[in-house]
Amino acid sequence: SRASSFLQQVFEPSTYSDDENPGVDWDNLGFYMMRTDYMYMTKCTKGECFEQGQLSRYGNIELSPAAGVLNYGQGLFEGTKAYRSEDGRLLLFRPEQNAIRMKMGAERMCMPSPSIDQFVDAVKQTAIANKRWIPPAGKGSLYLRPLLMGSGQILGLGAAPEYIFLIYVSPVGNYFKEGFAPLNLYVEEEFDRASRGGTGGVKSVTNYAPGLKPLTRAKSRGFSDVLYLDSVNKKFIEEVSSCNIFILKGNVIASPAANGTILEGVTRKSIIDIARENGYQVEERVITIDELIDADEVFCTGTAVGVAPVGSVTYKGQRIEFKTGPHTVSQELYTTLEGIKRGLIKDNKGWI
Ligand code: COI
Repeated sequence: SRASSFLQQVFEPSTYSDDENPGVDWDNLGFYMMRTDYMYMTKCTKGECFEQGQLSRYGNIELSPAAGVLNYGQGLFEGTKAYRSEDGRLLLFRPEQNAIRMKMGAERMCMPSPSIDQFVDAVKQTAIANKRWIPPAGKGSLYLRPLLMGSGQILGLGAAPEYIFLIYVSPVGNYFKEGFAPLNLYVEEEFDRASRGGTGGVKSVTNYAPGLKPLTRAKSRGFSDVLYLDSVNKKFIEEVSSCNIFILKGNVIASPAANGTILEGVTRKSIIDIARENGYQVEERVITIDELIDADEVFCTGTAVGVAPVGSVTYKGQRIEFKTGPHTVSQELYTTLEGIKRGLIKDNKGWI
């Protein structure tokens, strides 16, 4: 209700300065869309691709009813975050990784894509233009949502003749309503998220709407999210609808290998690096549901989600519980990652 009352506030460009506090209750941020000041937009049309990017007031965009993205789902999205450090710096976390992933996704979806430099520059410009929406240090982040879509009209099935790349933003806190409390996952056996040769490995918009039915069903039964199994054997764990998954057994941390059906999360990749540096053995491989059942800890990673501990997984009517709390490996990895992102821990990897 806080978010909806915020959305009702009328945006008046002339009534603020760029540094003015937007009146957000920073202590109660969730993962909701708030109307912010600026968005970034550029097009790829008739050979000129994504060169004339511009910031404009946040607002609706105009699309042909025959746009490729509306009719055939030719679209990709990304997610990255900006943070305010204790000493007042504005920090971005590995935005070039999102640029690279968008490039790979664009290739799969037959779209042109912005260059790495165009993408990162656009993210920087959008974050700076909306800097009054970047929460104070330690209180959430500004989520940036880059979109790439087929905007040109196309009636027969084919690649659109024109593309839009845009970025909008919203301040966010915890993704799950559970906050920092452990997640309760439901193992989905009826529906699949991805199949071999499909688009599960890229951030295509078409990967997400089919997950709404199982997600809604699981939420109505009190679960936080669903965990998908591989579509062939229904035996190997794959991904949660909004994030990647890890298991820990002893000193070994494992996550499903990115073999085309798993999204290569930027947080996933970063956690793998941090875990190796912290002395854990990290494996990317196939993981059976039985191994998960036998794990000491389970946790999820994602840009929106961060690092979220899993308290239970329900499979075939059986609820299996895992270790959570302050003395867990997931908490250790979370603290390191958040420390780097927020400028509390020295970034010796060039991630900031
Ligand atoms: C992200 O983690 O940034 C995502 O795009 C996941 C989305 C379901 C919120």
